[in-house]
Amino acid sequence: MYEPARDLPRDKPALYAELLVQAQGLFAGERDAIANAANLSALLWHALPDCNWIGFYFLRGDEQRGELVVGPFQGKPACVRIALGRGVCGTAAATRRTQVVRDVHAFPGHIACDAASAAELVVPLVTADGRLLGVLDLDSPTIGRFDEADLAGLEPIAALYCAAVA
Ligand code: SME
Repeated sequence: MYEPARDLPRDKPALYAELLVQAQGLFAGERDAIANAANLSALLWHALPDCNWIGFYFLRGDEQRGELVVGPFQGKPACVRIALGRGVCGTAAATRRTQVVRDVHAFPGHIACDAASAAELVVPLVTADGRLLGVLDLDSPTIGRFDEADLAGLEPIAALYCAAVA
């Protein structure tokens, strides 16, 4: 049975290096996209301080006419469907670029699912052969919570997820 580590490093690069190893352990021998997303959401939720929502939106349909639909997550119930190009999640998906948003209230078109969210980081999930699976979304109640170190730590974890399920 999985037991979250009690004394995770506080330094972001060391913390994310540890989480990458733990994610490898969770995904070992399992290719199911929902199962691995659920376990990754739970792993991140218990390890990353000061977050109020962590989870997945999956692309349903193609990149032209499709939309994002909420997947496994931790936090309060969220918006179910997000159009590509809309909000922080839709922008990350449409541009295939990680969005690090210091203050969501200053982001044009931000979708307020949880009024507590103040900062957001969204990593697009793109497979090695170029398919967009969806996004990994993290929200925090603290302005400026996410920075380049979070991006540098979460992009390899998102890539590991894509490699595990695709
Ligand atoms: N705030 C997001 C919507 C998803 S929730 O935060 C869970 C956005 O603007 O894309």
